[in-house]
Amino acid sequence: MLLEKYLKVNKTNLRQFHIAAGIPETTVRNINKREMEKWTIAQFDAIASLVEKDRKTVINELEELRFHSQDQLNAQLEARYNLENRRYIGNKNKLLGWIKELIEVHTVGTSFFDVFAGTGVVAREMLDNYDHFIINDFLYSNQIIYEAFFGSGLYSAEKLNTIKDEFQSIKDRKIDDNYFEKNYGNRFFSKNDARIIGEIRTTIESIDNLTEHEHAILIASLLYSADKIANTVGHYDAYRKKVDIKDRFLFELILPMDVREKRIVIHREDSNVLASKVSADIAFIDPPYNSRQYSRFYHVLENLAKWDKPTLVGTARKPPAENISEYSKCSAPCIFDDLISNLNVKYIVVTYNNTYNPKSSSSKNKITHCEILETLNKVGKTEVFEKPFKCFNAGKTELKDHREFVFITEVEK
Ligand SMILES: C[S@@+](CC[C@H](N)C(=O)[O-])C[C@H]1O[C@@H](n2cnc3c(N)ncnc32)[C@H](O)[C@@H]1O
Repeated sequence: MLLEKYLKVNKTNLRQFHIAAGIPETTVRNINKREMEKWTIAQFDAIASLVEKDRKTVINELEELRFHSQDQLNAQLEARYNLENRRYIGNKNKLLGWIKELIEVHTVGTSFFDVFAGTGVVAREMLDNYDHFIINDFLYSNQIIYEAFFGSGLYSAEKLNTIKDEFQSIKDRKIDDNYFEKNYGNRFFSKNDARIIGEIRTTIESIDNLTEHEHAILIASLLYSADKIANTVGHYDAYRKKVDIKDRFLFELILPMDVREKRIVIHREDSNVLASKVSADIAFIDPPYNSRQYSRFYHVLENLAKWDKPTLVGTARKPPAENISEYSKCSAPCIFDDLISNLNVKYIVVTYNNTYNPKSSSSKNKITHCEILETLNKVGKTEVFEKPFKCFNAGKTELKDHREFVFITEVEK
């Protein structure tokens, strides 16, 4: 039903419309069943007032929605990438089953706050368990990836499939400058691949009839497609030198999730700033614990997502520093304590691993197991669970007896 769908896309529903507009519930149900050509001007204005848009925008969006609903029935997105199909240090992919089970057994609630969401795989794993999600990470590339995968806005599968085919046939630069090729060609990508990636990124901004969701899907697809073939060991702190970089890039689409039944709010904020502004039943806390800065590790994806083309420096062509995490500095124990004390939640779930004493100093944890427990115990009763695990170490650090921990605190406030 068109009205119901439209209200859902705008994060509201028929009941709220009935209350806000003062229209009887039976009339609201009738409007929902009727063709939109039969709706009155007053009814359009009541919808516009509820969703805080003007009448013309509402009518245009309703027409789009009607067209797309039909279109989505007729066409399927030719997509290749799912949320987990990227390389990301510290992702919890291999621990999802264990984490989910612990959360299911030891907490109750209807809302889930993924405070340091990274790839977003934990929020995705918990999708069936909650109605309301808050997903946060301070990286630009992660934000656009969440908007693409977890977005509930409109998109036309047919339109995106056509654009994908056009992008796959791009052979040279037409409207792009050579920023991406000049900086990353023969480094993180072959010269030719870098030229095509730059051309596609510029073309995405030049397409003027994209919905916000389509725009996010195209950028996320470009990020996944570029990451898939990048000449790196899984992050962009450096590239593999002295290799003949082959042309391997192929633009493929990501597959958005079906989140129509869920309320999902996406943030790109510093965790400690956001903590006191939102509330949820469960907060999932998976911060960085060592000195490696995610914004520096994923700077190429950040630059491609943000696309404001700063001057880049050094061998790895890094942009000016931004989103430097306090969790990767000596101040980490204080920052963690501040976060925990400001969360408005019933349960806090923290993941941690025992990388205390590695040979590489960049892998050394900034917060100890003891400090985590001490902080959590200040706000409630904490249980600790553990599991042996093999971790990422880029070949430098030898980690025997590596263990993963999950702390679960029932907040007493
Ligand atoms: C260990 S990763 C999270 C991995 C995630 N749980 C997953 O499975 O993919 C930590 C994340 O915290 C983010 N981050 C670090 N400091 C932050 C801060 N102060 N505010 C918000 N996000 C931050 C990083 O960008 C990174 O994505």
